[in-house]
Amino acid sequence: MTTFVLFGGTGDLAKRKIIPALYSAFVNGRLDAEFTFIGAAREALSDEEFRLRVANSIDTYAAKVGGSKEQVAAFLALTGYSKIDAKIPEDFDALKARVSTDTSKAKLFYLAVGPDIFIPVVEQLSKHGLVEGNARVVVEKPLGRDAKSAKEINSALRSYLNENQIYRIDHYLGKEMVQNLFALRFANSFLEPLWNRKWVQDVQISISEQVGVETRGDFYDKTGALRDMVQNHLLQLVSIVAMEPPVNANPDAIRDEKVKVLRALRKFNADDVSKKTVRGQYRAGAVDGKPVIGYQNEAGVPSATRTETFVAIKAEIDNWRWAGVPFYLRTGKRMASRCAEITINFKPIPYSIFGKGQGPLRSNRLVITLQPEESVQLFMKAKEPGEGIRLSDVALNLDFAEASSSRRVESYERLLLDALHGDLTLFVRDDELGAAWEWIDPIMHAWSNDAEGLKSYIAGSWGPAAASYLLAQHGAAWGEEYVEG
Ligand code: BG6
Repeated sequence: MTTFVLFGGTGDLAKRKIIPALYSAFVNGRLDAEFTFIGAAREALSDEEFRLRVANSIDTYAAKVGGSKEQVAAFLALTGYSKIDAKIPEDFDALKARVSTDTSKAKLFYLAVGPDIFIPVVEQLSKHGLVEGNARVVVEKPLGRDAKSAKEINSALRSYLNENQIYRIDHYLGKEMVQNLFALRFANSFLEPLWNRKWVQDVQISISEQVGVETRGDFYDKTGALRDMVQNHLLQLVSIVAMEPPVNANPDAIRDEKVKVLRALRKFNADDVSKKTVRGQYRAGAVDGKPVIGYQNEAGVPSATRTETFVAIKAEIDNWRWAGVPFYLRTGKRMASRCAEITINFKPIPYSIFGKGQGPLRSNRLVITLQPEESVQLFMKAKEPGEGIRLSDVALNLDFAEASSSRRVESYERLLLDALHGDLTLFVRDDELGAAWEWIDPIMHAWSNDAEGLKSYIAGSWGPAAASYLLAQHGAAWGEEYVEG
């Protein structure tokens, strides 16, 4: 029997992501026979009232899962609710009464709440003997605001839990293509000899979003794109792209290699920050032909805010494999299209025997697209059919939707199941989190002393012009702006 307790059970993340993911796991027969699901939050709700909300969330956000009415009813029958205020110890007595006291039974406590609530909740769980034995705790980002606060949260968590009970979730790690990166890199022989400074010109990792800050203006304004996306998702992708082959596929073997990359990221001084980072904020514009307001007019955002909604960075990794290879990172809200992509640009051929006017000579590149579609494309040069020699780009294209008929598992479902099965591979270890913050801190610090550095960009564009210049000065260009020739 497994008990899954969701703190923040009435919140937005629960409604949009976690409940649909659990339900999908249920419909696909991935939960054990005696699974129970308990929502927990401050609101006073009966089991029945919470079930109604769960049914609503399934209705609205789990359409793709496609279970029957009977399956929804069966899932609701496993569901209950416990009113919990983290500051009221007696509330945890009520929760305890609903949870098996057998410490060999799996218990998963998912903390979809603000970081200020993590510690009071874990403290009470511990005092009530609920984290002994086969118990795990999943914590959502943001895990801190800087290296210092992340360290405080980690050490407080560690005073109640062992590291291997803590599942720090980064939903990017649950994306199919991110896991495929491991397969691509460590189950193929031909890429490894090329995967280094001798053959790679630069690496680009770009996550562009079309959405603005939606209903999260207040939270977002205190966070900004660097903390919201770079510190976690982008740096996790960097660590997987750049890591050395691990000795095996065990969680710690993989995480040992990832953390070395994060530690090898060259730290910036104030001068580096001004030369190697660009930050921007969107103003009114149009996305997909529809007018949208500027960031400063979004609900919950102060009108004079200096918070960034766009970041571009030229990062470098100081180790033998990657010395001298720029890693260009970019993310932003209200950009031209929704796309998450990793591009490995290989070095140009040393000399062209074909001369000018023979077509584009953009060098080979491997493009791994995480979303909106999943694909891996290796762009090569080939001759265009017909008279004479005219070269063009041809993609060796691996379209995963077509290549496999297996069920697609959404990232939250995948990560929830991993946590239920005790697999830590796709969760972030405390030293990774610390190393990521150590690299981010100097950037945040330099930005806070440089109010002028914030550029603006028009919603629906690819960000400030300075982000193009960041690459252009090194003879590089972002994928969408590459000029052939
Ligand atoms: C979240 C950020 O972690 O990731 C959001 O807080 C962002 O601001 C989201 O929109 C992007 O995730 P995805 O999976 O839609 O690319």
